[in-house]
Amino acid sequence: MTTVALKDVTKVFADGTIAVDNVNLDVNDGEFMVLLGPSGCGKSTVLRMIAGLEDPTSGAVLLDGELANDIPPRDRRVAMVFQDFALYPHMSVGDNIAFPLRLSGVDPESRTERVADVASALGIGDVLSRRPNQLSGGQRQRVAMGRAIVRRPGLFLMDEPLSNLDSGLRAELRAEISGLVRELGVSTVYVTHDQAEALTMADRVAIMRRGVLQDVGTPTEVYGRPATLYVAAFLGSPRMNLLEASVYVHLDRYVALNLGEQALYLPWSDIRARAVSHYHGERIVVGMRAEALTPVAPDAPGDVLRGRIRFLEHHGHESLAFLDIGATAIMVDDLGGQPADPVNGSTGRLRRLGSVMQRLTGRSTETGEGVEAGGRPGSARESVLSDPGRHHRRPAELAVRLAPYPAVSSGHPLSVAVRMDALHFFDERGDRIDVGWR
Ligand SMILES: Nc1ncnc2c1ncn2[C@@H]1O[C@H](COP(=O)(O)OP(=O)(O)OP(=O)(O)O)[C@@H](O)[C@H]1O
Ligand SMILES: [Mg+2]
Repeated sequence: MTTVALKDVTKVFADGTIAVDNVNLDVNDGEFMVLLGPSGCGKSTVLRMIAGLEDPTSGAVLLDGELANDIPPRDRRVAMVFQDFALYPHMSVGDNIAFPLRLSGVDPESRTERVADVASALGIGDVLSRRPNQLSGGQRQRVAMGRAIVRRPGLFLMDEPLSNLDSGLRAELRAEISGLVRELGVSTVYVTHDQAEALTMADRVAIMRRGVLQDVGTPTEVYGRPATLYVAAFLGSPRMNLLEASVYVHLDRYVALNLGEQALYLPWSDIRARAVSHYHGERIVVGMRAEALTPVAPDAPGDVLRGRIRFLEHHGHESLAFLDIGATAIMVDDLGGQPADPVNGSTGRLRRLGSVMQRLTGRSTETGEGVEAGGRPGSARESVLSDPGRHHRRPAELAVRLAPYPAVSSGHPLSVAVRMDALHFFDERGDRIDVGWR
């Protein structure tokens, strides 16, 4: 239907806030593009510039290849659905959906017909005569969708349309919305801070941080080959383990990745070894997702990291073990509190509190001191080790997946095999170190 192109788009608000910083992004015909990022990163501002509700400070917004900067919102054939969508309380559901058609002078007969069509597609055909306050939250959101769809727009702009709903309903509507817009073939830009929503709904995901576009790609691409440390840290649950490594090259043999008390070795034959070898004598960040780690016997050969379980977290379908391996973790800012994230959301904080309690009440562990990086045991873990720049360090707690309710407990030793081909490498600035670029 409609294509969107943002060319070097920047938005600086009157108070000097740089909300959007030189963003370039294309949305293809019929594509479902999800803008993902933490609160305040500029998602809504991008959306509002596409809608024409906000003017770019510089750069161009193109709709169907034509410069749209000066096209007023009502002439852009876009329909917006917001989080706090306001239905007219004194109007029936049917009239609410018909409202945009009445505004644009569609005759009553075709109005009724189109409303009935849309309402039945959304499964709200039987509540057309009710008032909004007689509907459930999910039904109200469907009415708001209906009001957007009924205009037959060329482009949907949706700003966190599901964030006010409970999680069950959200999952249900998530599937419904993406199914519906694909059926209609309407290009869509969908804003969310929920990575699960982004990864399940999107054709492509664009990830933003502090107004800057970090990465764009299919869910598989951005998850599998994150362009920056930030994207690596933002996507996935549990979050990717990000370990500081110092690189030491043994020419023609291997590249050692020293992780503190242990090391991993990239054989020289591995094509990535060359790229990493440029960082000889320097520190880089090695990323490993939980799925790259498999528990093995303590004497297993190969690429193995050994540690002690600091604490366990049971999630029903699986348990997560957090291992002390004597390495340093890199912590990334601006990840936002993602409520769906069991490890880093509010339960993550509870978990930390729990482990502090464990330490205070239990006997002091022999592994504790050296790993607390010079701090007092028991208090240093929450203190951010000083680092100029955006990344902080702290003793790593390597997240490893285990079967549900495993026969181990905190304090137990655990060895994990590392899938070397599933490692990610980032330089000090947080950019991916890679051979070639996708
Ligand atoms: N009218 C305005 N004047 C000044 N600053 C603004 C204005 N609108 C937004 N901002 C700022 O611009 C930045 C981006 O805001 P924006 O609403 O686009 O973020 P967002 O990614 O949609 O966040 P959220 O997920 O919380 O909705 C924020 O720092 C915000 O405070
Ligand atoms: Mg917003």
